Amino acid sequence: MMLLLSRFSLVKSLRKVSARRWHHTSLTNDLINNMDKKATWDRFYTENSRGGQFKNFEWFFGFQSVQDYILPQLKSMCAPLHVLDIGCGTSALGPSIYIHSKSAVAVTCADISPVAVRLMQEHAKSTPAQPCNPASTLIFREMDCTELEGHFEPRSLALIVDKGTTDALLRSKEGRVKAGQIVRQSLAVLRHSGSLLQFSDEDPDARLLWLEKESQGSEVAAVVSVHEVRELRGVTYFCYQISPHAAQ
Ligand SMILES: C[S@@+](CC[C@H](N)C(=O)[O-])C[C@H]1O[C@@H](n2cnc3c(N)ncnc32)[C@H](O)[C@@H]1O
Repeated sequence: MMLLLSRFSLVKSLRKVSARRWHHTSLTNDLINNMDKKATWDRFYTENSRGGQFKNFEWFFGFQSVQDYILPQLKSMCAPLHVLDIGCGTSALGPSIYIHSKSAVAVTCADISPVAVRLMQEHAKSTPAQPCNPASTLIFREMDCTELEGHFEPRSLALIVDKGTTDALLRSKEGRVKAGQIVRQSLAVLRHSGSLLQFSDEDPDARLLWLEKESQGSEVAAVVSVHEVRELRGVTYFCYQISPHAAQ
C-alpha cells in the first residue's frame, strides 16, 4: 500500500515538474520502472532543463527540512570532514551543506547522470556560492555510487547523505541489488565516527528490516536507527541513520 501511495505521489510530482508536451507517458513510465538506469535520469534532467533558466529540482523536499540532521553531526566531528551526496541530481542539498557548515567541509556531489552533473557544474560556475568556512570546497562528479570503493579511501568519509536515491533504486525493477551495494560500499568508505543518512518516505517496518539484512552482508558491522523528519501532503518522511559499529 505504501509503495502504491508513493508511486502515486511520484507520478503526481513528475507531472507537475514536466507538464509540457513531450513523451510524457513514456518518461513517466520509464521513471516508475527504470529509476536505476542512467539513461532514464539523463532523459529526466534533459527534459527538466529545457527552457533555459537553471532551477534546482528537489526530491521530497529541500535542505531546510533536513539541515538539523546534518549540520549538528558535522559540528561534533573532527576535521577533515569529507561529505558525499549520493545521487545528488540537481538538488541544492550538497551545495547548501557547503554554504552552511561552520566546520570546513569537502563536499562531493555525485551522480550517475552526466547531464545532472554538467548542469550543477555550470550553475556553480555561473553563480558561485560563498561558504561559511573559507576552507570548504565543493565538487560535482559523475559516479556510479555502487562502486564507491573505487573512488574513496576506506574509512575516509565523515558523512554520506542520500535523499531519494535509495528509494528510487528500491522501487525500480532491477535496482534492489544496487541499493544494497550502496549501503555496503558506504559502510566501507565511512570512518568509524561517520554515518550514512537516507532521507526516505519508506515505512520503518520495511526499511529497517532491509537495512539490517543488507548491512549484515558488509565487512563492517552497522548500527541502524530511524527518526521521523516531517509530514508533507499526507506522507511521512524519515531519516535512516546507518553508522559503522566500532568494535569494543
Ligand atoms: C530520486 S533522484 C534524487 C535526486 C536528489 N538526491 C534530490 O534529492 O533531488 C535519484 C538520483 O539518483 C541518481 N542515481 C541513480 N542511480 C545511481 C547510481 N548508481 N549512482 C549514482 N547516482 C545514481 C539519479 O541520476 C538521480 O539523480
